[in-house]
Amino acid sequence: MSTYILAIETSCDETSVSIIKDGCDEISTVILSQMDVHANYGGVVPEIASRMHIENITMVIEETLTKANMTMDDITAIAVTYGPGLIGSLLIGLMAAKTLAFIYDKPLVPVHHIAGHIYANNLVKQLEFPLIALVISGGHTDLVYMKEDYSFERLGGTLDDAVGEAYDKVARVINVPYPGGPLVDKLAHTGKDTYNLPLPLDDDSYNFSFSGLKSAVINLVHNEKQKGNEIIPENMAASFQNRVTTILTKKTLRALKELNVKNLIVAGGVAANKGLRERLTEECQKNKINLIIPEIKYCTDNAAMIGAAGYFAYKLGRRADLSLNAKASDKLH
Ligand code: KG4
Ligand code: ZN
Repeated sequence: MSTYILAIETSCDETSVSIIKDGCDEISTVILSQMDVHANYGGVVPEIASRMHIENITMVIEETLTKANMTMDDITAIAVTYGPGLIGSLLIGLMAAKTLAFIYDKPLVPVHHIAGHIYANNLVKQLEFPLIALVISGGHTDLVYMKEDYSFERLGGTLDDAVGEAYDKVARVINVPYPGGPLVDKLAHTGKDTYNLPLPLDDDSYNFSFSGLKSAVINLVHNEKQKGNEIIPENMAASFQNRVTTILTKKTLRALKELNVKNLIVAGGVAANKGLRERLTEECQKNKINLIIPEIKYCTDNAAMIGAAGYFAYKLGRRADLSLNAKASDKLH
């Protein structure tokens, strides 16, 4: 018999609900993005995000079931992102999930947001182990080793800013409107790598650091301004993107080689980055590594990925009761 997971994701500014069959089949997904509202403020405003989740969550759940032509009777279990993320936003999804689990007497399965990003790949192709996952989002930059389903060993990660965060900050400095990451990526493709920026934390560890690179961009922009010059935004975007993709690719490839792993998956919002996709595709072809990068719609926050991860968590017997609380930060496990 098939397992149908109804998944809820509200960790940031997307209200999303999805129904996933057997961890790999997307039956229906609804994503209500609040991006346009937050764009007026240049970033996500937590209070507004949680209020909008409250206004929309019931409608999004109903629409997801209607689109799937299903009722709650067809659902096996409810999966929900409990963290990490914005507490106020997480709580809305959590309350909705607990209410459904209680009323319809369904198992409640807690899902870590990053496990969701990783398992987005299972919607593209069944994961093959052992694998290395490069998780890059607005809040995370992690290299994770997985020897089997739901086993996460962190090899390294950022010591300061997450890569998406660095993108968003650099965007502001070069006058690119919110959301910065995708627009800097687009701009980078029309520019040239002309600025002398450092390759950050080019050492033997699996850690990353993006705050120095971000500061180097800020200093360059200020210095040029003081001289009465303007920087060329597309060239700055290209130079910044080149450093970021170089170091991410270099350390990821080294991890694959040193651990003798042949499967690489990339996850999180920054996996949508065209420059990085090109770079990794080329290197993986050269080194005979199987690379999976999800379609862009599965890279950014969505509930389909929570449903995919939720299926494996459900199969492993992971359950929560109604005391499940939201966590702003939590180790991936
Ligand atoms: O995974 P995600 O949707 O939310 C978090 O869990 O953080 O990632 C959002 C982050 C933002 O920082 C956004 O600027 C970045 O991913 N991002 C990109 C691109 N698309 C989204 N960064 C670089 N290039 C892109 N194409
Ligand atoms: Zn995310």
